[in-house]
Amino acid sequence: MKRIYCLFISVHLLGAASAQLPKLGKSPVKEIVAAMTLEEKAKLLTGNGFKMPGMKPPGGPVVGTTQDKVPGAAGTTFAIPRLGIPSIVVADGPAGVRIDPVRNGDSSKTFYATAWPIGTLLASSWDTALVRNVGVAFGSEVHEYGVDILLAPALNIHRNPQGGRNFEYYSEDPVVAGNITAAMVNGIESNGVGTSIKHFAANNQETNRNTVNTILSERALREIYLKGFQIAVKKSQPWTVMSSYNLINGTYTSQEYDLLTTILRKEWGFKGFVMTDWFGGKDPVAQMKAGNDLLMPGTTQQSQAIISAVQHDSLDVKVLDENVERMLNVILESPAFKGYKFSDKPDLAKDAALSRTAAAEGMILLQNKSNALPLGSKGTVVALFGNNGYDLIAGGTGSGDVNKAYTVSLAQGLTSAGFKLDAALQNTYTNYLKEEKIKHPKKGFFEEFMHPTPPIAELVAEEKMVTQKASSASIAIISIGRNAGEGSDRKLPGDYYLNDTEMVMIKTVANAFHAQHKKVVVVLNTGGVVDVTRWRDAVDGILMAWQPGLEGGNAIADVLSGKVNPSGKLATTFPAAYDDVPSAKSFPGKEFPERAVTGMLGMRQVPAEVTYEDGIYVGYRYYNTFKVKPAYEFGFGLSYTNFAYSNLTLSSPVLNGSITAKLTITNTGKVAGKEVVQLYISAPAVKLAKPAEELKAFAKTALLQPGKSQTVEFVITAADLASFDTNSTSWVAEAGRYIVKAAASSEDVKQQATFELAKDIVTEKCNKVLVPQVEINELKK
Ligand code: BGC
Repeated sequence: MKRIYCLFISVHLLGAASAQLPKLGKSPVKEIVAAMTLEEKAKLLTGNGFKMPGMKPPGGPVVGTTQDKVPGAAGTTFAIPRLGIPSIVVADGPAGVRIDPVRNGDSSKTFYATAWPIGTLLASSWDTALVRNVGVAFGSEVHEYGVDILLAPALNIHRNPQGGRNFEYYSEDPVVAGNITAAMVNGIESNGVGTSIKHFAANNQETNRNTVNTILSERALREIYLKGFQIAVKKSQPWTVMSSYNLINGTYTSQEYDLLTTILRKEWGFKGFVMTDWFGGKDPVAQMKAGNDLLMPGTTQQSQAIISAVQHDSLDVKVLDENVERMLNVILESPAFKGYKFSDKPDLAKDAALSRTAAAEGMILLQNKSNALPLGSKGTVVALFGNNGYDLIAGGTGSGDVNKAYTVSLAQGLTSAGFKLDAALQNTYTNYLKEEKIKHPKKGFFEEFMHPTPPIAELVAEEKMVTQKASSASIAIISIGRNAGEGSDRKLPGDYYLNDTEMVMIKTVANAFHAQHKKVVVVLNTGGVVDVTRWRDAVDGILMAWQPGLEGGNAIADVLSGKVNPSGKLATTFPAAYDDVPSAKSFPGKEFPERAVTGMLGMRQVPAEVTYEDGIYVGYRYYNTFKVKPAYEFGFGLSYTNFAYSNLTLSSPVLNGSITAKLTITNTGKVAGKEVVQLYISAPAVKLAKPAEELKAFAKTALLQPGKSQTVEFVITAADLASFDTNSTSWVAEAGRYIVKAAASSEDVKQQATFELAKDIVTEKCNKVLVPQVEINELKK
């Protein structure tokens, strides 16, 4: 009320000077809208432009004066001072606030942000309470740096391991993605700042990202690609949603009324506003009509097109009024409107400590033959191989990158944890990396985006040198790194697959160390899945460290040393072979080069389409149903201890409203640890085909001391059981017998119980929308 009052006052005060302003009453937002000119509305609905050193923005010169509010932020909206409407600032991204760390060349005061662990790592913690805490700290940086809305979290589905932005995203499963997103949004927004959950929707590749038409069935769309967004909207009501670049079944998402209004607002009850992805979509008028309220970063051409459409009666100004109203409702909540005096001094030291804790919680112990890990006592001599061991990758590239003050390498982390690194080896790598970096200096953001600097070639591990290390050191750690990001997808050779030098390094090190009865551990510092099949048998331990943020080296050392018992589990499958991936054949679709045009920022745009022939069989839904054995299945992760599952009970043998499943988890090993418990359901599949198992809920225990137990509880309702029935356009829970599976992974079911559903229940009736225009040859059971 106070805020509305402020607006009321400011409008009144300013109104004194402006004859056309009405006297405000009960609905100030509506009245402000009524007081706005058409030009003001069009300005508010198109951002304040794009600033990139040395680049002219498309769409004419940038008008407006709010661009420099927070240098390096992704965009701002127009201020309308006469109405008391401030400009708001939006900044990336999913792993930390991305703003310029130094302003006007003056490094005496810096604006670095915490690089949090990447989204996939956070999801691999399966710990919504932890993610919420990260959100709270993350949001305080957003707030203290003068940003109103964070352009995150990002929750597109990991459809294919080559997805260039998978690191920003959470999981192959919408229940994980949706719940982790909700926790993150609730945490960030508890600071009084906003989020923009993105990219809505079915944006699962970077190849031709601005032109690709994603063709998919209504069921796959609803169950896999929209479900996470639906959960996030229901559980966290984010301030904004960002529409994606791609088309869905023939229409740009930002121009699709049925996506942004029928589904998002009418079916799910979303209350905030929708913004485009940067330069997303083609037709500003269609975007307005669709309910894509804000066009970012905004061009004068767009606002002129909107004005002209109203003047020529092809756009009803009432549509704009609704768009404006939704934006104003959010602006009224913003720190900018409240006049928050941000400090530019977030508590980076405190946040770094949390980043380290969170990073360790999401790392996954994939292999641990004869207890290679944890490492021995302090003072153990470690031979650390691999460029990456001395040059950690904290996070991915593009808008998901963060300008951080430092990155702790694995070498530094191990040293701080009290291990002794082989000094000569360390020198060799450090000098090599230094020289290579001088030869290939990193370019600016935009040039890197267009032509990324290739990674430094892996230093060849000569056999003679390795043999020598095998006698002097106690253990070998090999660190392998991969980076990727916005603008392109990953490649198979040398990226998904290890390259020849890496393969030889693993073989040489393993032979030499095993000959001395010493262990070899591989650390994977990658943003996504890599092949393990070709080399895992050669080594003893494998730790999936993901891209763990600025404290990464310390966090990896925490896990390797046993200070933290690993408790992360895979939120995305490691296939045994790339060809096993259900989307391997259809990713990334086909191109129509004969229709290429010059698009945004002068880039060549090639029309393209991708057909999701894998349908609902994404990730473990495919591997389990079609009995294809992955290298490491969804939900998998080892611990330094063991857990027993017992006493699974259901509150009732029949579902009547809801059923509570309870079970006991006991730490039966020798060290304290946490267990991620997953609840899968196998459903009757009489009318609708069903995946063999589907994750319905998950929980992480507290840190259980040896011998201690904890009871975990899950509540299941009919809505959790329902699948999308295309014929009736509704979510239906089919009558029959359901098997509840309490599991340590999607393959490792520990306990099961059954219940009955007496008759079919329609849990939600939906609108017949976003129907594919062509026949899809969808995978069937
Ligand atoms: C990305 C978005 C990002 C935006 C603003 C786009 O290129 O796809 O995720 O938020 O830029 O930087």
